[in-house]
Amino acid sequence: MSLPPLPANLKGRDLLTLADFSPQEILQILDWADVLKKLQKQRTPHHYLAGKTLAMIFEKSSTRTRVSFETGIYQLGGQALFLSSRDIQLGRGESIADTARVLSRYVDGIMIRTYGQQVVEELAAHATVPVINGLTDLLHPCQILADLQTIREYKGRLQGLKLAFVGDGNNVCHSLLIGCSKLGLDIAVATPPGYRPAEQIVARARDFAAAAGSSVLITGDPAEAVRGADVLVTDVWASMGQEQEQQEREKVFAPYQLNAQLVALAAPDYIFLHCLPAHRGEEVTAEIIDGPHSAVWDEAENRLHAQKAVMALLMQD
Ligand code: CP
Ligand code: NVA
Repeated sequence: MSLPPLPANLKGRDLLTLADFSPQEILQILDWADVLKKLQKQRTPHHYLAGKTLAMIFEKSSTRTRVSFETGIYQLGGQALFLSSRDIQLGRGESIADTARVLSRYVDGIMIRTYGQQVVEELAAHATVPVINGLTDLLHPCQILADLQTIREYKGRLQGLKLAFVGDGNNVCHSLLIGCSKLGLDIAVATPPGYRPAEQIVARARDFAAAAGSSVLITGDPAEAVRGADVLVTDVWASMGQEQEQQEREKVFAPYQLNAQLVALAAPDYIFLHCLPAHRGEEVTAEIIDGPHSAVWDEAENRLHAQKAVMALLMQD
């Protein structure tokens, strides 16, 4: 069987934020994620990146991102290098710029999980190969590609759906704001005061939503956000790097738990998403995340397919 040819329009691009991609380009990635998922399920070899190498720099922990990128590039005919910042010279003070210049001489793409978004941007500015954001304090674009793929699988469409995010205005919330507003999903975010998403992200999302004909709501009221929603999303109350705030956050966020009482306000056929890892009994009850509306395992699987699409489209010859 001959494989479908990759379109060349995204070749060489970085994925630092979904804001840099047009709605058509995001949909193209999602379509390729579906194609690659089907090929993998059929066990049809699809070595679009034969002989290529991805460097994966991790300054924070990871299960899904590491394993899905590493498995994904292997399935595409390439290989991955896991580089913990504890082991490479970056952790001893070598600059991001020099790391980018050197890695670009060895590998065909760099994925990085780090703290500051500016680190990813600096890496991309000095690398001559595509750079992929595997999570920063500000954004988590790869997660949201998998989320959108999952929503479309379950609902058959994206435009016109309502997605509610309840919890912390964090990296996942920010990338959902961008991804949903780009693709015309209405997004409602409920956070405690003081934990709202960053104003510059909300402003950009409002612009994208205006172009797509959808809406952005930021509220303190979880019921208002969840009412009539087709997709419910939450995330941990304390993200990586905020461990020392855990106890204080547990108090502040308690009214923002996705539980049976709150989800009763959603559309009857709502789906529940969570990027994982989850803390049952905090941001979500076990009854919801392990219940019949939960799509979290398909969502986790789709990290593999969505990121394979990103790698194939960006890192192709
Ligand atoms: N959702 C996610 O990015 O998971 P990991 O932290 O395990 O990579
Ligand atoms: N908001 C979480 C997501 C983990 C995948 C964090 O940054 O820790």
